[in-house]
Amino acid sequence: MKNVTCIEDLRTIAKARVPRAFFEYADSGSYTEQTLRANRADLEAIKLRQRVLVDVSERDLTTTVLGKKIAAPLILAPIGLCGMQHGDGEILAARAAHAAGIPFTLSTMSVCSIEHVAQGTGQPFWFQLYVIKDKGFSRALMDRAIAAKVDTLVLTVDLQVLGQRHRDVKNGLTVPPEMRLKNIIDIATKPVWAWSVLMGQSKTFGNISGHVPGMENVNSLAKWTNDQFDPALNWKDVEWIKKYWPGKLIIKGILDTDDARTAVDMGADAIVVSNHGGRQLDGASSSIAMLPRVVDAVGDGTEILFDGGIRTGADVLRALALGARACLIGRSYVYGLGAYGQAGVAKAIDILEKEFSVAMALTGVGKVADIDGRVIDDGMAKPAAPRTAAPKAPAKAKAKSPSKKSAP
Ligand SMILES: Cc1cc2nc3c(=O)[nH]c(=O)nc-3n(C[C@H](O)[C@H](O)[C@H](O)COP(=O)(O)O)c2cc1C
Repeated sequence: MKNVTCIEDLRTIAKARVPRAFFEYADSGSYTEQTLRANRADLEAIKLRQRVLVDVSERDLTTTVLGKKIAAPLILAPIGLCGMQHGDGEILAARAAHAAGIPFTLSTMSVCSIEHVAQGTGQPFWFQLYVIKDKGFSRALMDRAIAAKVDTLVLTVDLQVLGQRHRDVKNGLTVPPEMRLKNIIDIATKPVWAWSVLMGQSKTFGNISGHVPGMENVNSLAKWTNDQFDPALNWKDVEWIKKYWPGKLIIKGILDTDDARTAVDMGADAIVVSNHGGRQLDGASSSIAMLPRVVDAVGDGTEILFDGGIRTGADVLRALALGARACLIGRSYVYGLGAYGQAGVAKAIDILEKEFSVAMALTGVGKVADIDGRVIDDGMAKPAAPRTAAPKAPAKAKAKSPSKKSAP
């Protein structure tokens, strides 16, 4: 792994090691993928202020989320079918997160079940809930999470209907799944992956399989799951969850200021500004474009988490500068998992932490608590002043305008 220096390297290796259908399932966004691209493009468009001659010899990456100290402002995001990137993927990712001192979030749609992850790690983790049509099943999932000592529930609200990823359809990742000759040939060329998945504790939706009568095979499971997403999902469901769940409640998938305010009014302990990694509403704004607006709308009382497009430590700095408490990372760690299993997830976290630490130093910040809008070069967001043929401004106006000052 010596030559792996960035998240993109992990992506390249995962692409070679994971069967195409599962790599593309993780890599893709919905429809034209414009929101997927905007998540990255808008982060990269935020320029940072290079600062010098500030003593940054001591750097502290630690912070707190909902009152708990974490080693860096990073959280592993919930990822459905994570265990299809590598056998026992959720257990391995949870172990890597625990070793790094950051939270791991298990998806409702995981391959390893709540119980397997609890047994396989012996450590606390967060659980992400989809409220589905079968409310009894959602309640049973919460009960199982409570029994597994989960204290933080991440309620994802942006999947009331499913956005389509074209590559999934082309690869046969459909309902029911289609095993095509090209998939079989592809899997035959990935023996390390095949062995790890074969040896894994579960090969389907671990939280559902064995818990819904009659759902014994992949086809019936996929159909049941698909039919259970609930277009009628509404704020009353959130009210019900808030009453039922005894621990902390985080609402994930908020991209709108009105929704953010309602989530806070409903008693969310935190919200995640997210567009599901560009996998749902294609054409929605990037998460980073919406973050400052949500922060403004909500005020200081509620912690705001962020996800969507984090691939570098500088991205983490950008999100924190715009008001995020911490960042959830999705694909960045999924690529690590597909590339090298647990060691790859550890590597992804390590890369982001080191890059974040350097970005802090070079913007003149020593502590996470000191990161704010001052690390951002907001001058870059404005159009450059015209270089020629600019009409002479009156002396008073000229003195006030910083852009005119820097014109040649
Ligand atoms: C392969 C994949 C599966 C996902 N599954 C879930 C899920 O089961 N539940 C959920 O709340 N979000 C899910 N998400 C969204 C992530 O939690 C997160 O919001 C997103 O990945 C952040 O964007 P990033 O991948 O650019 O970091 C998934 C994302 C990916 C890439």
